[in-house]
Amino acid sequence: MTRPESDRQRLIMVGAGGMARAWIRRFLPVHADRVEIVALVDIAPEPLVEQGDFLGLPANRRFARMEDAFEAVDADCCAIVIPPAAHRWAVELAAARGLDILSEKPLADSWEDSVAIYRAVKAAGVKMQVMQNYRANPPILTLKQVIESGRLGRSYYIVSRFAADYRRRNAWGATFRHEMRHAILVEGSIHHFDQIRNLSGADCATIAGWEWNPGAPSFDGECLTLYTMQMTNGTFAQYEGTGLAGGWQNNWHNEYYRVECEGGAVVVDRDQVVRIYEHERGRGLRIEEVPPVPVEHGGHTAVIGQFLDWLAGGSTPPTHLDDNLQSTAMLFGAIEASARSETVNVAALVAAARA
Ligand SMILES: NC(=O)c1ccc[n+]([C@@H]2O[C@H](COP(=O)([O-])OP(=O)(O)OC[C@H]3O[C@@H](n4cnc5c(N)ncnc54)[C@H](O)[C@@H]3O)[C@@H](O)[C@H]2O)c1
Repeated sequence: MTRPESDRQRLIMVGAGGMARAWIRRFLPVHADRVEIVALVDIAPEPLVEQGDFLGLPANRRFARMEDAFEAVDADCCAIVIPPAAHRWAVELAAARGLDILSEKPLADSWEDSVAIYRAVKAAGVKMQVMQNYRANPPILTLKQVIESGRLGRSYYIVSRFAADYRRRNAWGATFRHEMRHAILVEGSIHHFDQIRNLSGADCATIAGWEWNPGAPSFDGECLTLYTMQMTNGTFAQYEGTGLAGGWQNNWHNEYYRVECEGGAVVVDRDQVVRIYEHERGRGLRIEEVPPVPVEHGGHTAVIGQFLDWLAGGSTPPTHLDDNLQSTAMLFGAIEASARSETVNVAALVAAARA
């Protein structure tokens, strides 16, 4: 049953482009009884018209400048679905208005902006969650369930791989991804770093490795990455991220994760089937497919639901700002590690940001 409009969270939607289109048409409508879009912002006229018309918003609820929307419209919360370089400005405006915030990953495109966001949100006392939708996908929930069941014993290390064939310019959806610095890390690896934290059940202590561009014409910025991480619980992780994959693909939703444990390994590859591998000398290798954990909603829809539950007084969601700062620090620690060819203390970065 649809609840009275006054019960619904009034949300300012910042962004009407590629991902925002999916938020507006697919993810938010699932929660239509709890949230309504009261204003829409985009600097580009075309998506503003397209999504504004879809929503049936009057002209005075459509804005080219986010500061005008925050000034003119009464709201309870906002969603930020614009490129990372503009996240800080949006968060600072929303926080200053006392609005709770659900933002697309990554928090920002620099550590400086990420820390500024953290401080603005803390100073305003508003709630903020970051969209790390991959945590809520069935293969990952299944993988995590196997790890947490204890069947394979202690986890030793995690190996993860993202590999997409973006060897053609603009193959990665939006132009900005092919023009920005640190493209794979900032726009891609933040998901995988967050997943490594999720699967290891720990934060990152240190990170070492490199990002580079071997001269690929499809990217202005870095598009190959290899990193090794030490987690705070003694687990380790290794990560490969490539935007130039000419072979085996582990693209979005088809990433590879292997958790090596005392009693075996649990793996998910591009077919999204979770398999347990158990070897015994003399008997050989036993492979078992694990049925997926059933979920009503996965990905974005699930995370938006967590955010709305939180606003309604429910529990703090897993990817709230304080938690996400840890994944964000891995990202900018990775950039620094590559630039200096040194191991970076990620825990120290987080501690400094919180000081
Ligand atoms: N969670 C996921 O799986 C996932 C997938 C894709 C993108 N994203 C994230 O979503 C965000 C947006 O990416 P996208 O793919 O939609 O990009 P996009 O380029 O398709 O759309 C971005 C939109 O933002 C608008 N915009 C840019 N600067 C603005 C500003 N200052 N004020 C208002 N509007 C502005 C642009 O005009 C454009 O319409 C990024 O943070 C990206 O990382 C997340």
